[in-house]
Order: sequence, then C-alpha cells, then structure tokens
Amino acid sequence: MRHLLDPTDLSVQEIDNLMDLALDIIARRALYSEACKGRKLATLFYEPSTRTRLSFTAAMMELGGSVLGFSDANSSSVSKGETVADTAMVISCFADIVAMRHPKEGAPLVASQVSTIPIINAGDGGHSHPTQTLTDLLTIRREKGHFDHLTIGLCGDLKYGRTVHSLIKAMGRYAGVRFVFIAPDKLKLPNYMIHDVCEANNLDYKEVNTLEAAMPELDVLYMTRVQKERFAVAEDYERLKDSFILDAEKMKLAKSDMIVLHPLPRVNEIAVEVDKDERAAYFRQVENGKFVRMALIYQLLKWKDEGVDAPKTGEEIVKGPRCWHAACITSIEEVEPLYKVCEGGVKRCVYCETEEHIA
Ligand code: NCD
Repeated sequence: MRHLLDPTDLSVQEIDNLMDLALDIIARRALYSEACKGRKLATLFYEPSTRTRLSFTAAMMELGGSVLGFSDANSSSVSKGETVADTAMVISCFADIVAMRHPKEGAPLVASQVSTIPIINAGDGGHSHPTQTLTDLLTIRREKGHFDHLTIGLCGDLKYGRTVHSLIKAMGRYAGVRFVFIAPDKLKLPNYMIHDVCEANNLDYKEVNTLEAAMPELDVLYMTRVQKERFAVAEDYERLKDSFILDAEKMKLAKSDMIVLHPLPRVNEIAVEVDKDERAAYFRQVENGKFVRMALIYQLLKWKDEGVDAPKTGEEIVKGPRCWHAACITSIEEVEPLYKVCEGGVKRCVYCETEEHIA
C-alpha cells in the first residue's frame, strides 16, 4: 500500500503525473464529482490547522466522498492516553484514507506501520509537510510553467519550517534549480537538511543575510512565518520574530515575473501592501492546495484498489537506542527505535531524521 509521509515517497514522474491530474481536475471538475463516492477520509488533527484540514475536507467533498475525524486532540481518546498506533488501527475500521497532523515528528510514519489504509502526513512537528509541497509545486507549475532552472529563495524560519524542508527535498530533484537561504543564524536549516539533502545531492545553494541581497536573482520567493509554537524559550521567539519582512519597497528589487509564495498563516513577514502586487501568489496557492489534495486522495485510493505497493528504496535500516530528540514521536510512544544509514555511515532516526546520539 502507498502512503504519503515525505515528498520523496513520490518519484519525479509520479509528481508530474499528479500535477497533470490536478490540472485535469481543474479543467474538468464535473468529471470528478463522484470519483470517491462512498469513500471516507478521516482527518486526525492533533495540532491546530485552518487551511490544511479544511482543504482536505473540501477536496474529499468535491470528489463526492465524505469526511470524519477530529480537529482537537483533547476531544478524542488521545486525552485518555491512546497511542497514535492504536488510534490508527481503530480508524482503519471506519475510513478509507487518513490525513494526519501531529506535533511530534514521525507520528504519521508510526500510524502507517499499523494502518490498513493509506496515511497522508498533513504536517509532523517541524519535520515534513508533503501536501503543502504538492500545493507549492502546483502553484509553481501554473505560474511559471516548469520546475527546472528556477532560483528559489526561502526566507524566515528554515529550522522549524516543515514546509521549507519538504519543498527543498522536492525541488532539489529538478535540473538546474538553485536555492538561496535567507534566515537568521538561529533559524538556519537543520543539520540533516544541509548534509543529507543539500550536500549529498549536490544541490546548488547559498546563504545570504538580507532579503535585499537575494531579491534580484529570484524566480520564486518562499516566505515563512517564524514557528512560535516550536520554540522552547519564548524570549528566543520574541528576538527573532521580526527578522525578515517583505514590503513593497523590497519587491521593487525583484524580477517582474518573480512570484511570492507563503504556506500561510502569515503573521507580519509579508506587509499587507504586497497583496495587491500581481506577483503575490499566496492566495492563489491556497486554492491549488484543494485541487492537488483531490488528485492525491484519488490517486492513493486508486493505488490501494489496485494493490500497488511502494517501491523498495534500498535504504539500510538498523536498530539503535531510543532517539534523543524531544520532538520525536519516540519520546512519547513505545515504538521500535530504527535508524537509516546515510552518507558517510551516519545513522538517522527514521521518524524525525535526527542523527543518532553517540554517548
Ligand atoms: C504551514 C504548516 O502548518 O506548517 N501551514 C500550512 O499548512 N498551510 C505553515 C505554518 O504553519 O507556518
């Protein structure tokens, strides 16, 4: 069975096919209005969400299916101490497919290990957010027409911003893509992203200190919110929250066909005055999220019906000590600690991708 836990669970070809399917859905809406009739999507949201959950809900409704679930862990058996694994097994009896958001990294992977229906990761802690990436990709495809040879600036919270991590993994697979990282020192990309994604794949990237320095060369500017909820120390958030603000003045430095993306919600990192600039694509991006989720739900259910399994990755997986990373699902749930062996023999937790702690 196929799940979507990370954007790289889909090959480049499969992503291209999914984009084509989303475009066909946009062009011929009526044709898909009963495509998932009689099927149920469970939305298990252990963490706040507006766009993602409603976008999944709207997507399933437009496919003629129905939706059940919870949007607040306190109103579910989680508050009684139920594990993610148990909840996933229970839901497998009620629904055909699951979209799960969880504050702990790797929670959807744990669910997928026991579930008999496809699991979609709708955001796990600061780790990954593959359906936001599909949304970003469909927006880039519709606005720019292609993925290769683009220069993409990613600005803001590159440390905790899960949408950033997933987007780099996905876009790094296209030819000639260049990345410009714009973040305060304390919010730079995590170590695994630099070593196992950027360096291991020879990605073309550079870091700059100001938006002004990056603007002139960008085709896409991906702005992000500083992720307040992931900070252990509130003062650190206060100090960093206003690091980079995009305004009309800075937009003057950009190409006339650059596009600005943002996964939303926005706090103050894009001044409202930018909204009326044609290049501001973040509200168009929201609608693309619904169409691409329609394509994804349709495709995962089709693969399930046809008995399609995920291709073998050839990754070496070994046992190890319990992961030390506090945000890892293994910190709250009894799951077998497993590590994948990466470049140079470095072992990374399969759930959160943090490097094994050598005592
Ligand atoms: C993002 C998320 O949840 O990571 N939002 C979203 O899915 N649209 C970005 C964010 O919360 O800043």
